[in-house]
Amino acid sequence: MLKLKKVNGENVWDILKLSVSNSQREYVASNDVSIIEAYTTITANGYAFPFGIYDDDLLVGFLMVGFDKDDHWTDAPKIATGNYNLWRLMIDEKYQNRGYGRQAVALALDFIKTYPCGKAKYCWLSYEPENTVAKRLYESFGFAETGDMDGEEIIAILRLP
Ligand SMILES: CC(C)(COP(=O)(O)OP(=O)(O)OC[C@H]1O[C@@H](n2cnc3c(N)ncnc32)[C@H](O)[C@@H]1OP(=O)(O)O)[C@@H](O)C(=O)NCCC(=O)NCCS
Repeated sequence: MLKLKKVNGENVWDILKLSVSNSQREYVASNDVSIIEAYTTITANGYAFPFGIYDDDLLVGFLMVGFDKDDHWTDAPKIATGNYNLWRLMIDEKYQNRGYGRQAVALALDFIKTYPCGKAKYCWLSYEPENTVAKRLYESFGFAETGDMDGEEIIAILRLP
């Protein structure tokens, strides 16, 4: 069964070893960058929830949820304010195409729907225009593009219950 475990001093070293294929590297930051961003977000009064994705005890990927924006994110898109963000998602190259990505999105949404930072209207995310696998995956959960961009990435949102 797939589950999320918080990144901690024990599992972080294995999470840093996870990677995507060369052709996917432009689609997602490496996990070291993501975990550094989590730290700097938290030290700037923001929220970041980085998790390892596990199939029982097997580490297969990494995801990170965010909420709102921190003190230094001056060019945040409008949707960031007061909303949750499925900020990062990656399944290690070795474990892709086995249904883990889909289950991980469901687990991230379950976590967001516990409203750990308080109630919010939307979950948003963004992806590179060429990342059709991610686009289709998110669309199947009901994410819809808004027409806005976060830098080079297309923004899509999902109404939360
Ligand atoms: C996107 C990603 C997380 C999907 O993870 P995954 O475990 O391979 O996904 P799943 O096995 O659950 O598959 C989800 C769907 O994508 C499809 N899919 C997965 N890899 C695919 C590929 N290389 N080509 C075409 N379709 C693919 C599956 O067929 C499945 O479709 P279906 O549910 O309609 O049958 C993974 O490809 C990844 O880590 N990519 C690099 C990082 C990235 O792009 N992250 C998202 C940033 S926004």
